[in-house]
Amino acid sequence: MVAARSNLEPITSTTLKRRNKALDVPLGLDRTIGNQSLQVHASLRGAILDGRLAAGLRLPSSRSLADQLSVRRNAIVGAYELLLSDGLVEARIGDGTYVASLLPTRANQNTPAPFVVPANPRGAFALGQTYSDPVVLRRLASATRRRIASATAAHLSYGDPRGGEELRRQIALYLAASRGIRCDASCILIVSGTQQAVRLCADALLRTGDRVWMEDPGYPATCKTLAAAGMRLVPVPVDASGIDVAAGRRLAPSAKAVYVTPSHQFPTGVTMKMERRVALLDWARVSRAWVLEDDYDSEFRYGGPPLTALAGIDGTDRVIYIGTFSKTLFAGLRLAYLVLPPAAVEQVVTARAAHDRFPPSLVEGAVADLMADGILAAHVRRMRTRYRIARDAMSSTLERAARGTLRLVVPTQGLHMLAYLPAGIAKDAAAKIRAMAQIESWLLSETRLAQSGPDGFVLGFAGHDITELTEAANRLGQAVRTYLGKSASRRISSES
Ligand SMILES: Cc1ncc(COP(=O)(O)O)c(C=O)c1O
Repeated sequence: MVAARSNLEPITSTTLKRRNKALDVPLGLDRTIGNQSLQVHASLRGAILDGRLAAGLRLPSSRSLADQLSVRRNAIVGAYELLLSDGLVEARIGDGTYVASLLPTRANQNTPAPFVVPANPRGAFALGQTYSDPVVLRRLASATRRRIASATAAHLSYGDPRGGEELRRQIALYLAASRGIRCDASCILIVSGTQQAVRLCADALLRTGDRVWMEDPGYPATCKTLAAAGMRLVPVPVDASGIDVAAGRRLAPSAKAVYVTPSHQFPTGVTMKMERRVALLDWARVSRAWVLEDDYDSEFRYGGPPLTALAGIDGTDRVIYIGTFSKTLFAGLRLAYLVLPPAAVEQVVTARAAHDRFPPSLVEGAVADLMADGILAAHVRRMRTRYRIARDAMSSTLERAARGTLRLVVPTQGLHMLAYLPAGIAKDAAAKIRAMAQIESWLLSETRLAQSGPDGFVLGFAGHDITELTEAANRLGQAVRTYLGKSASRRISSES
């Protein structure tokens, strides 16, 4: 911030002496803006528009203001010229520069407080984190640099609405080898994340007001996306075998779609049993409903090979598979993909072209290079070990610290773990404990739609430092014991 002293009352005298007086309105220069002229212009413009520099006020000479703001005199001259072309100041020949006598209505009058965008949690146990491995970041940086350096006109112009063919081919190879999905690269669509994938399917294949089965508890981001697309969500309970297909049939037999996480249900961690998979595919075939399979974290399986995806056993062509690079690499990449049954390709690709035309091609090409060179597969192998170690350190510390007050479900897959509180405690207990423990996990209740049941914590363990994880696990165990101890004594005293 550069502060300038000043004079707020309009100047009526035309003497040079008065014109050279300093401004006392503090003017902050934002040094991140282009050059000094633009910085001074932005600052004066803001001060005029919000009324700090009144209409008709004479501005100091360029020399005097340059001294006050410690900038070059030319910068002031340039800024005054820009203000002149904005119509915010007037030049009076032989006299000086004045704030225009007619100004637009003050911008800040009656303007509502700006919308505060909620911050993304990154603290202890926050979900959505991955380890920023310098090895893979370096490889991604050099692949991106190479892609930019060798970009042809085709790369720099409008592209295929499905995304680049190289990445789609690499994904097809990966899915065949690792997920049991045989698909042609022509049926793959690169998108900016799972939510865009879900939105495109809703826009292309569903109609406003259609019913969609949603796992309960389930992934809140998908609920938001489907609701924003005008779908009517039908919460379908999840049990130890996965989504309860019979309950879904009872609740909304003619729903047009279902969203599921069969490999690793979010947040419970349940793997959908084969009889449920068959029942779901049967229902989808008969009702001509779409199955949106979100396979977000199957690369991180800690015992045995990953299970075949639902799309790999689908003989009905009703399953739309969604994969993401948010876990294998990082969420900031905004890179995910859809595998479409042939019957859905045209509609979804057309919706994509109408939405944002096609995905950015350069980073996408660099990720294709990492896949082709085996760098991504090696990274995933290293991360699997790293995240397993984090899971084990966190679960054993939490187990010890909670002394039986939490029921942990240590996952064999994925990057989060569930810790259940005992049933029957106060509704706000989990939120209070979370605040006491200073952790940033989700609560199980935050992922529920209609079902009730014991609350708990959805604890992310990837991308966090192990020492921080174990310290947070100790705080959480301690907070649960303190809370339960206090509420037990409160119960005893109110009963006596
Ligand atoms: C259930 C589920 N699906 C998908 C994702 C990834 O979403 P995106 O691809 O939009 O980053 C996550 C991330 O946490 C998730 O929990």
